[in-house]
Amino acid sequence: MSNHHQKLKKVLKPYRNLVVVGGNWGDEGKGKIIDLVMAHYDVTVRFSGGANAGHTVYATNGKKLVSHLIPCGLAQNKECVMGRGELVDLKLFLEEIEQAKKVLGKRLPPIHLDQMSPLWTPWHGLLEAWLEYVKGKGKVGTTGKGIGPLEGLYKLRMAPVVGQIFLDKNKLVEVLKPLYDALLPIFKELSKVGKGLDPSLRRVPTPLVVADLLREYAKQIKPFTTDTSFVLFKAAADHRRMLFEGAQALGLDSRFGTYPFVSSGNSAAFGAAEGTGLPMQNFGATLMVVKTLPTRVGAGPFPSEMWTRDKAMSFAKDHLGLFVTPPTPSLEKRGKDRRVEFLAEKLRLINSGQAKGADYSQYFQVLGDERGATTGRGRSVGFIDIPWLAYAIRINGPKWLALTRFDMLSSVKTIPVVVGYKLNGKLLSPGQLPPPWDMEKVKPVFENWTGWNENIFGVNRGANLPQPAKLFLSRLEKHLKTQILLVGTGPGREDIVVRADK
Ligand code: GDP
Ligand code: IMO
Ligand code: MG
Repeated sequence: MSNHHQKLKKVLKPYRNLVVVGGNWGDEGKGKIIDLVMAHYDVTVRFSGGANAGHTVYATNGKKLVSHLIPCGLAQNKECVMGRGELVDLKLFLEEIEQAKKVLGKRLPPIHLDQMSPLWTPWHGLLEAWLEYVKGKGKVGTTGKGIGPLEGLYKLRMAPVVGQIFLDKNKLVEVLKPLYDALLPIFKELSKVGKGLDPSLRRVPTPLVVADLLREYAKQIKPFTTDTSFVLFKAAADHRRMLFEGAQALGLDSRFGTYPFVSSGNSAAFGAAEGTGLPMQNFGATLMVVKTLPTRVGAGPFPSEMWTRDKAMSFAKDHLGLFVTPPTPSLEKRGKDRRVEFLAEKLRLINSGQAKGADYSQYFQVLGDERGATTGRGRSVGFIDIPWLAYAIRINGPKWLALTRFDMLSSVKTIPVVVGYKLNGKLLSPGQLPPPWDMEKVKPVFENWTGWNENIFGVNRGANLPQPAKLFLSRLEKHLKTQILLVGTGPGREDIVVRADK
């Protein structure tokens, strides 16, 4: 057992059930952290979100695996449970099974899908297109996976659920018909609007067509489908160690995120009970994953943001050649040199004190290949934001933090850190967050913290971190009053520092 795992084993042993959640606005690297920690657990469990999530892990053979629906413990060949709180798109689920077979090249571990999970239909995508259209400038900038409509219609008792695809065709049509009838007036409006919408969205399938579409998957889905709350009850009774895999993050939690610019599920740690049916006392400890430089895609408040959202999001689209994985080999060759020059120039500006917000943003976007794992959209980057984290810690109550992408700060001499929020000239108390209508008015208060010259990419022993980096971490811990247990220094499984013995 590697040194990391010896340390982790000791730390995690008392916590038979561990909840892992994101602390910013998603894409913190939950996948990578879960992949590491899963070595000490038997079962991975998803409890919320759906196809909007994109968690990246690297299989043992080095191949990349992006999971949207199936928990990422799959890469470790661990039993996977998709709890009732997860929203399911059956086509995507089956595609992921195929992808996993290709990447992992072996028989897959048991995977359980809940018979009562809300079930995606093409209508949910159409409704989402309509809602975003109606909101106009105030649109959420969703991932387009029908998440809001599916969760919302479930709460309205109008969503089909997975197990209903095994009903007789007529029965299934009966289930689908009221939903179709309720949405039909909207679909008619949608087809009139047309403009700006994908033409495919104007063809509305009838309940019969949707029933056929869903029933096509029935045979393949059957072996996976069950009452997962009972599976989990038995696993708990057998003292199996379970890891609950959060999707999205606190900033996108429908209740405690930056509403209305949120997703529609429970992304906070408390969602683990609601989305699985396991009683509260099962949840012993939470590990909150935090991105050193937080990112956001879609709309909504982001107080520590370096540049403006639209510009940052389109920067990635317009400069693909600078990013790590350009779409064509010809771009790749040209892109490599341009990328190196680009990064060197931006870093020079940053270290000479001449950089503007746009320079910081572009530097970190390119360096970190900040593009969404689900949609490929550019992610806008922010500075380390202590007041936000204090709030996220207040709601999630983590025992520890995992700070990912610490390598991004390599060679940056002076690092701006947000240490407070001011609203109308008044400093807010740590952990206090204004209501959404005041969030955009929040002014971040910065401090400059000392950086380091060395490149720490891939460092995997605390002792090998430069002294200023160690001081940086202790200073951050002091502000947050929470231990930083894990520090990510690269995307790979071994690019991590375990700070268990400090
Ligand atoms: P998730 O949705 O929270 O699982 O995160 P994503 O997988 O969407 O995005 C995180 C990205 O950061 C992925 O490309 C990871 O491979 C990468 N990543 C994770 N941890 C680190 C780290 O410590 N350093 C670097 N450079 N990349 C990381
Ligand atoms: P993971 O699990 C980043 C964002 C969308 C949008 C808002 C609502 O990979 O961290 P939705 O489609 O959920 O209705 O969109 O939430 N969003 C995410 N951003 N990572 C995610 O998941 C996200 N899931 C949703 O961009 O702003
Ligand atoms: Mg992601």
